[in-house]
Amino acid sequence: MHILIHRADGDTDPWVADFAELLPEAEVVVWREGEKARPCDYALVWSPPQAILRELSEVKAIFNAGAGVDAILKFGDALPAHVPVVRLDDAGMGVQMAEYVTHAVLRYFRRFDEYEAQARAGQWRPLPTHRKEDFSVGVLGAGVLGGRVLEALAPFGFPLRGWSRTRKQLAGVECFSGADGLDAFLRGTRVLVCMLPLTPDTHNLLDRAKLSSLLPSAYLINVARGAHVAEPDLLTLIKSGRIAGATLDVLRNEPLPMQHPFWQEPRITLTPHISALTVRRDSVAQIAEKIRRLEAGLPVAGLVNRQQGY
Ligand code: NAP
Ligand code: GLV
Repeated sequence: MHILIHRADGDTDPWVADFAELLPEAEVVVWREGEKARPCDYALVWSPPQAILRELSEVKAIFNAGAGVDAILKFGDALPAHVPVVRLDDAGMGVQMAEYVTHAVLRYFRRFDEYEAQARAGQWRPLPTHRKEDFSVGVLGAGVLGGRVLEALAPFGFPLRGWSRTRKQLAGVECFSGADGLDAFLRGTRVLVCMLPLTPDTHNLLDRAKLSSLLPSAYLINVARGAHVAEPDLLTLIKSGRIAGATLDVLRNEPLPMQHPFWQEPRITLTPHISALTVRRDSVAQIAEKIRRLEAGLPVAGLVNRQQGY
C-alpha cells in the first residue's frame, strides 16, 4: 500500500517515521510540487497546491491533516468527486480547544483583561465581579470540537448554549439549530465562541447585525476561520463598546498584515492560529486506524459531506 503525503512546510520526515511505526504495511511517498508521483492508494494533505489534484483521482480516500476542510474543498469540481475526503476527528485538538476557550472565557469573566490594562497603568483597583448568570457562553458549531469545549466549560457553572445545523441534545446545554434558531441563540449569548466550519452558509456569518444581537457588552472568541467574521463590523462594534472584547485566533489574512487595525486595538487579543494544532502522532494513529477500516470495508468517522461543505 502506498500513501502520498504533501506538507507545505516540507517537514515530512517525522510523518514518514510515524507511519512506518503505526502502519508498517504502508510505504509513504512524499510528493513535491512539479513532480509526478507513483500511483498511490491514499493521500494525506493539508492546504495543498492545485497541482496536487492530478495525483488524487486514483486514490481511495484523501485524508485532510486538520479538522477544517475549506482549504481543500475550495478546489470545488476540480477535486475528484468520486474520492472521499476524510478530516481529522479531534485527534488531540479537542483538549487544546478546551484549554484555549476556557482560558479566554475565564479571562473575561474574572476581568483579567481589565486587570492587565490596569497593571500596565500602575493602578491597584478591585473591580465589581461579573455574575455567572449574566455570562452565558454560546458555542456556534456544537460539533466534535465545540462539544468538547462545552464539556470543559460545564464545571464552571456558566449558562451554556450551543448552535448546530441539526438539532442536538447535550446535557446542561440549551441547544439551538438551523437558520431559524440563530437569532434566539445570539440574543441570549454574552460570550460567543465561533467553532464552525467555513462553508458558503457560514462565510461572513458574524456581521454587524448578528454581532449586535448578542447581549450587551458581549465578547467574541473566534477559533474557527477568519472569514466567519466581518472584520470592519467587529472593529466598529468594539470601538463603540457594544462588543467589550474579542479573542481572535484566526484572521481573514494570515499572518495578519502589520497595518491591520486589529493590532492597535487593546480590546482585541490576537494569537497566530494556534488554538488547536495538529498533533502528528495522534493524527497518524487515527489515519492508520481509518485506513485499516476502509480496507476492511468498514465506515469511518469524519467523512466530509461535499454538499454541506464540512
Ligand atoms: P465538526 O465536528 O464538523 O463540527 C461542526 C459543527 O458546526 C457541527 O455542530 C455542525 O452542525 C455545525 N455547523 C456547520 N454548518 C452549520 C450551519 N450552516 N449552521 C449551523 N451549524 C452548522 O467540526 P470540528 O471538528 O468541531 O471543527 C470545527 C472547525 O474548527 C473546523 O472546521 C475548523 O475550521 C476549526 N478549527 C480551527 C482550529 C484552529 O487552530 N483555529 C483547529 C481545528 C479546527 P451539525 O452537528 O448539525 O453537523
Ligand atoms: C486547523 O485550523 C484545522 O482546521 O485543523
